[in-house]
Amino acid sequence: MQGRFHFYEGYNIATVTYPVRVFFLLGIETLIVTNAAGGLNTKFKVGDIMLIKDHINMPGFAGQNPLCGRNEERFGVRFPCMSDAYDRDFARMAKETAQELGCDSFLQEGVYCMLAGPSFETIAECKVLRTLGADAVGMSTVPEVVVARHCGMRVFGLSLITNKVVADYKSTEKANHEEVLETTRMRTEDLQNLVSNLVAKM
Ligand code: HPA
Repeated sequence: MQGRFHFYEGYNIATVTYPVRVFFLLGIETLIVTNAAGGLNTKFKVGDIMLIKDHINMPGFAGQNPLCGRNEERFGVRFPCMSDAYDRDFARMAKETAQELGCDSFLQEGVYCMLAGPSFETIAECKVLRTLGADAVGMSTVPEVVVARHCGMRVFGLSLITNKVVADYKSTEKANHEEVLETTRMRTEDLQNLVSNLVAKM
């Protein structure tokens, strides 16, 4: 896809995930998701790439799960498992690929938390997310992954840590979209290399 629908743009959660259902009907078996995310884990640096090993569906906590409503059996079961959402074989292959490409020095692994956005997080919210076990926070991806897993697609995900979240009242830093774009430009080629080499192995 060239871009995606975001919930914060005003699309409902069914529209956000509609392309994944189209992929499934086209016979696509694997979904690779990428996003920009703020680093919550204090060990992460700007420019790190995080293998998503699990997620926290915060909009889902608030009733915004794309699978709410009548279940379409042709896509999947009513109550799909999410404890194996991110394919472990693909994660292992990605680590190997990163090593081969010399990207392993900035490869991390962690839990991605989705918030609806579009406002960035408050300091108190960042503290809560850390306590919950999130390593990175963003405004996308999770609804698409839930729908992909519902219909049995294998999922592999990467977050680019475009900025560190502000989680300290003494800090004068501010989250801003320009930093997100700048880090993305800096790492686009590495990300493309990693994904295309991984696809070749898949
Ligand atoms: N918070 C939420 N979403 C984001 C961030 C962030 O700090 N950076 C990039 N996407």
